[in-house]
Amino acid sequence: MAQTNQVFIAIIGAGGVGKCFLSQLADLSTRRPSPKLSLCYISTSKKAVYNADYSIGDNALQDLAASTKAPMSLPQVADYLAAAPSKAILVDNTSSQDVADAYPLFLSRGVSIVTPNKKAFSGSYKLWQDIFSAASTSGAKVYHESSVGAGLPVISTLKDLVDTGDEVIKIEGVFSGTMSFLFNSFAPVEGSGGQWSAEVKKAKELGYTEPDPRDDLNGLDVARKLTILARLAGLPVESPTSFPVQSLIPKELESVSSGDEFLQRLPEFDSQMEETKSAAQKQGKVVRFVGSIDVASKAVKVGLEMFDKSHPIAALKGSDNVISFYTKRYGSNPLIIQGAGAGGEVTAMGVTSDFIKVVSQIS
Ligand SMILES: NC(=O)c1ccc[n+]([C@@H]2O[C@H](COP(=O)([O-])OP(=O)(O)OC[C@H]3O[C@@H](n4cnc5c(N)ncnc54)[C@H](OP(=O)(O)O)[C@@H]3O)[C@@H](O)[C@H]2O)c1
Repeated sequence: MAQTNQVFIAIIGAGGVGKCFLSQLADLSTRRPSPKLSLCYISTSKKAVYNADYSIGDNALQDLAASTKAPMSLPQVADYLAAAPSKAILVDNTSSQDVADAYPLFLSRGVSIVTPNKKAFSGSYKLWQDIFSAASTSGAKVYHESSVGAGLPVISTLKDLVDTGDEVIKIEGVFSGTMSFLFNSFAPVEGSGGQWSAEVKKAKELGYTEPDPRDDLNGLDVARKLTILARLAGLPVESPTSFPVQSLIPKELESVSSGDEFLQRLPEFDSQMEETKSAAQKQGKVVRFVGSIDVASKAVKVGLEMFDKSHPIAALKGSDNVISFYTKRYGSNPLIIQGAGAGGEVTAMGVTSDFIKVVSQIS
């Protein structure tokens, strides 16, 4: 007999973030035995673990590795969770657009969602509207703190500012750990920094970039995060390509066939970035890759900008993110959030804190 004080959980995606979330979930279940948290489905893109009686063992990761079961289709997962003996939460730890596109279906069936996946909230404006209207009709919850700034409390802070009636004037920051790392070493506040191409190569070797660094340098990841924040601040941004986004990929290298060839040829274009760096230096400034949202003028943009060396954006270290909220209440001294904007444990922390909020609202 199922307990009424029980929540069923389905996890899609068991990579870097998914594995950390599983371990935080196990720890949470021990620290907070009620409501009972029952994992009933876990899958990657190729395998799944689930049973008709909604129980799976305590070794989900080992069982998943050994599983020969294919994942259910997304509508089947929605049916399965909607028929669970008590409320269910879907945790999407993928970066899949297909899973994101299915959120309205899950929400309309009463299944709540927590996720670090940016795709649903930064895709078409229609998908955004479908998600929140399905949630408001069914009462299911949807939280996505880690879709911007990983575990940093960026989204919850912005929601609190808006919900309490503050007027958000401008949001500005460094939203990409990769870009942060690159510019903090290419154009440091002290010293002259390295050659652009050498810094990109080093960042790739240290695992800070995507396998093809062009996927970071095209600015789209930052544009997606800005889309999410702009929408939460009340701007109906159509998509991450509907505002100016500066790509740092030289035109000539846009279509080279591999990331390796891109890195080999990048030194040919070092002089362009060197010019940008020295133009900033001449004014006593440094160059950084930032995103900004000017709420009053509805202007969203992503690209290179110069900052005084004393500015919080200039003084960042390592691969940290920094996000400044300029609001009516905070005046000219913005509310600033800073810290690691990537990494499995901190990203999973944002997912787990969302999960705790949802559990407290549905059980
Ligand atoms: N890592 C970070 O620092 C960080 C920071 C902020 C946000 N995030 C976000 O967190 C999410 C997860 O990131 P990650 O680093 O954990 O990625 P990852 O290591 O690549 O893991 C992704 C997982 O999702 C599974 N998956 C992908 N497409 C799927 C599908 N259609 N159906 C079922 N499973 C699918 C993968 O399975 P297969 O192995 O079978 O493909 C894998 O288990 C992403 O949305 C990412 O943008 C990550």
